Amino acid sequence: MSVYDYVLTQTNFVRKDDLNYPFEERGLQFGDGIYEVIRVYNGKYYLINEHVERLYRSAEAVRIELPFTEKEMYSHLDELLNKNNIESDAKVYLQVTRGSAPRDHSFPLNTTANLYAYVQDLPRKMNIMREGVTTITEPDVRWDWCYIKSLNLLPNVMAKQTASEQGCFEAILHKDGEVTECSSSNIYLVREGKVHTHPAKKNILHGCVRMRVEQFCKEESIPFIEEAFRVEDIQYADELFLSSSTAEVTPIIKVDGKPVREGMVGEITRKMQEKYEQDAGIIESASIFAKEV
Ligand code: PDD
Repeated sequence: MSVYDYVLTQTNFVRKDDLNYPFEERGLQFGDGIYEVIRVYNGKYYLINEHVERLYRSAEAVRIELPFTEKEMYSHLDELLNKNNIESDAKVYLQVTRGSAPRDHSFPLNTTANLYAYVQDLPRKMNIMREGVTTITEPDVRWDWCYIKSLNLLPNVMAKQTASEQGCFEAILHKDGEVTECSSSNIYLVREGKVHTHPAKKNILHGCVRMRVEQFCKEESIPFIEEAFRVEDIQYADELFLSSSTAEVTPIIKVDGKPVREGMVGEITRKMQEKYEQDAGIIESASIFAKEV
């Protein structure tokens, strides 16, 4: 998937091949930084306010001073798409670290944050959204502040790798049997017409798409119950689905080798996918519901 040439940094736009990363960098040495992954459809951001607001919340939580005001951030992010002439479906990866300084655990003095943001093509994952994905369950060994979108992703990486090695798309994470979220997405269980998901407490990421799923449920008068479900509840699920900026709303059809609803995608999941497409302004011919030619 190609990365476009112009990269936004804290000082200016540079070409990606001219980027010069410092040797001692707190993101590299400590994972001391935060990030966002923002979806772009037809050259336009989706849920940009939600992502930028979360970035500022994460920055405040870890006391990183961002190099731009929120207003400047919006205009730089727009310019990033314009400079790269983006008209297609893509994602923007944006990260901010505490900066470059000799290695020492405590915050360095007089150091400014390092920021970069780049654009990469990201066609929609039509097959997985139509057919659903398989998953495994894994213990959630992360810290208690997962609402911060921090660069410390080693537990997520390990869980995802375990899933991949078993031919699965995602790892469903649980703390002592209580399902929190997935390694890089939020998760929902549908039972008797109600959507259940872990409450937006500090120990999960408050997904931007999750906020929309909540709104979609409201609009459709589907109860959205923010109460954690347990791994053993999955066997009684009518439907299971996940959400993220890259996977949108994706059905889960298998967990630990056992089919959910005999591997069929459920109606509420389909409704959420339909509403997502409407909300994101996806045109009919690009819809997952369009007849394949
Ligand atoms: N991940 N939970 C976790 C642990 C995540 O990493 C993500 C997103 C989500 C969903 O958040 P959102 O709806 O705002 O994308 C939930 C991104 C896509 C990533 O790390 O690549």
